Amino acid sequence: MRLVLLGAPGAGKGTQAKMLIEKYRIPQISTGDILRKAVADGTPLGKEAKAIMERGELVPDKIVLGLVEERLKQDDCKSGYILDGFPRNTAQAEALDKMLNDLQMPLDSALSVDVPKDDLMKRLTGRRTCKSCQQMYNVYYSPSKKEGICDKCGGELFQREDDKEETIKRRLDVYDAQTAPLIEYYKKKGILKSVMGVGRIDEIFSKVCAVLEGK
Ligand code: AP5
Repeated sequence: MRLVLLGAPGAGKGTQAKMLIEKYRIPQISTGDILRKAVADGTPLGKEAKAIMERGELVPDKIVLGLVEERLKQDDCKSGYILDGFPRNTAQAEALDKMLNDLQMPLDSALSVDVPKDDLMKRLTGRRTCKSCQQMYNVYYSPSKKEGICDKCGGELFQREDDKEETIKRRLDVYDAQTAPLIEYYKKKGILKSVMGVGRIDEIFSKVCAVLEGK
């Protein structure tokens, strides 16, 4: 399976990707996760990306494309991959097509997870993530049993820097202006699939698998 996950911030791309990697045993390539790690490690790239991410804007294409290409060349991507949060604009999508063509591993599908705007703010302001195992929770929809502590590994939960209301608004605007047009881009290529991302997470996952398996 060679897949791009599309959807607004908070649509549940990361949540579904984590379940897909377990079922299909292929890696998730999340540009957001890679960039956040670079910020946390204080690398030169992380220093450049930090302020941009905190404003809710897109990191320059050149940086992101380099990261993705390096990751796709690793051996574990030979059996498939899930691109989560990439591409983010038409220039990235075109560069990705060329890259995948050169690597002879073209996309099978682009899956759009559709969620009404009104739900996204609550999902994002309520999101909490485990510092150790990256398990995700939501204080409104799926809280951990003990506040601030991961049920799975006992790690500390944190709130993302860009999950503040003002930054979320900017991220949603950036999505509408730059990323939403990719739905049409992949529709024209004939590989677009979509699911409604509202309801129980496991029910959405069943719909995702059915759509991807052509059922
Ligand atoms: P990135 O990390 O990609 O963030 P995003 O696209 O804004 O997406 P999110 O991770 O916020 O949401 P998601 O759809 O994965 O939802 P999740 O599953 O977490 O990007 C962050 C930043 O990095 C960008 O702003 C940019 O600066 C930079 N960047 C990244 N990629 C880039 C690129 N390619 N080019 C340039 N810059 C780039 O779920 C959200 C919450 O909802 C969780 O709490 C979850 O538990 C909950 N939830 C999930 N499903 C449900 C459900 N069905 N019902 C109720 N709650 C649910």
